[in-house]
Amino acid sequence: MEIQPVTAIIGAEIVGADLENLTDAQFATIEQAFTDHLVVFFRDQPPLSSRAHIAFGKRFGKPHIHPIAPGPEGHPEIMIIQADANSRYADGNNWHTDVSCDIEPPLGSCLQLRVLPPVGGDTLFANMYAAYETLSPMMQDFLADKTAMHESEHVYRGRYSERGVDDTGKVYPSAEHPVVRTHPRSGRQALYVNPSFTTKINGLTKAESKAVLQLLYVHQQRPEFQVRFQWSENAIAFWDNRCTQHFAIWDYWPDERMGHRVTVKGERPFHEDRDSVQSDLRVSRRHD
Ligand code: SIN
Repeated sequence: MEIQPVTAIIGAEIVGADLENLTDAQFATIEQAFTDHLVVFFRDQPPLSSRAHIAFGKRFGKPHIHPIAPGPEGHPEIMIIQADANSRYADGNNWHTDVSCDIEPPLGSCLQLRVLPPVGGDTLFANMYAAYETLSPMMQDFLADKTAMHESEHVYRGRYSERGVDDTGKVYPSAEHPVVRTHPRSGRQALYVNPSFTTKINGLTKAESKAVLQLLYVHQQRPEFQVRFQWSENAIAFWDNRCTQHFAIWDYWPDERMGHRVTVKGERPFHEDRDSVQSDLRVSRRHD
């Protein structure tokens, strides 16, 4: 296997991996690349069976079951990502980290795209360590002890009705998480608010919270923190939800785009006071 970084900040393509027959040493290499590059891509893959896809996810942790999105018959561990001419929504068509409204939000998500539009349908991924590390020390200090609400009622209510889901009476998850979370494996600090699920920074007035979140969202979306993945048939992206955000661009309507996502359950986000590791950060504060 070969690890080929796609940008200096985020994303690497792993060439030559047979995900259905990984040795422990190969898995360790993939896990390290995932930690180092935040999102890894695999091209030229066969369509994974549900069993193989779930088995690959399970090497990283227990499956995360989506609060509402329906999976294929008998496989609640799989989320179908699909949009076509009849869709009112396309999953992921805004900056977010997956299901951050859960008390224990996903560690990572592994998506294989089976049906591609003729053009478009790329996914953007952004590095939330870089977003944190390029804030001023004063802003980092201000955010250090803050928590934010992550809610999902406004995201999910009625969302899957066109796939036959009746969510009458369903209570959607919400959670309070640190604004800056410490990654349990890398030990680095990542900015953990996103415009899809985060509704308020606790302890601030509504107006203050809105202004601070807006500032953080604009900052997080700087192009130099991003990689743009152009999918090929059966390509796989596996991203770390603890230190990235992504945006699946719905620019292909009325064409269809479809894939299967296996999501890995994560731990409850925590914040540990520590100096941020900035040594390998190549995004300077040159815009100050
Ligand atoms: C998602 O999981 O948020 C969708 C990602 C994608 O469709 O590229």
